[in-house]
Amino acid sequence: MRLVLLGVPGSGKGTQGEVLAAHYGIRHVSSGDLLRHEVAAHTPLGEEVKSFIDDGELVPDELVFSVVAGALDDAARAQGYILDGFPRTLAQAQRARASAPPAGIAVDAVVYLDLSDKVARSRLSGRAAEGRVDDGDSVIERRLAVYHHATQPLLGFYRALRLLRAIDANAPIPQVTATIIAAIDASAA
Ligand code: AP5
Repeated sequence: MRLVLLGVPGSGKGTQGEVLAAHYGIRHVSSGDLLRHEVAAHTPLGEEVKSFIDDGELVPDELVFSVVAGALDDAARAQGYILDGFPRTLAQAQRARASAPPAGIAVDAVVYLDLSDKVARSRLSGRAAEGRVDDGDSVIERRLAVYHHATQPLLGFYRALRLLRAIDANAPIPQVTATIIAAIDASAA
């Protein structure tokens, strides 16, 4: 199974990605986690991407593809993957789709975690104490704006491909998980 999680920052992509990966026995591949790992390890790539992440801007595509493609290689050969944070722009989605397996990145379903900016803000600022550098108020605003400008158009792209499954992301975490699983299993049946 190959899933994509889409949604505004704070909608629960990372949270649900981990739970769903355990449920389906597949890999959770988070582009944000992979990029933050590079930053924390002070790799040359990490040095290159740090300021984009700190400012809430998108990391350039070539750098993102180099990180994600490596991580997906093994996952694609195994049972599949859950992509969290990637693709994030139409260009990334089109490029990922154009290079479908065995060379590239296929998608069976896209889970859209539907959440208002207001609730997303409150979740992200509540998490700020945990130390993620991009959870300060002004960077949260920039991440939300970048999402609406660059990522939201993906909803129409995946809807046209009949891959989009919209989920109410306002509910408590276990309830959101159960709704996603029901939607995925229904569409796979
Ligand atoms: P990324 O790491 O992808 O961050 P994001 O999209 O901004 O999303 P978050 O991780 O903040 O939120 P989430 O939706 O995963 O929610 P979470 O489960 O954490 O990207 C970070 C940066 O990396 C980007 O700004 C960019 O610079 C770069 N980047 C990454 N991918 C890129 C790409 N493809 N192209 C270019 N640049 C890229 O939950 C948030 C909080 O809410 C948590 O505290 C959680 O406990 C809580 N929560 C979750 N669900 C619920 C619930 N149902 N009820 C109550 N609380 C909940």
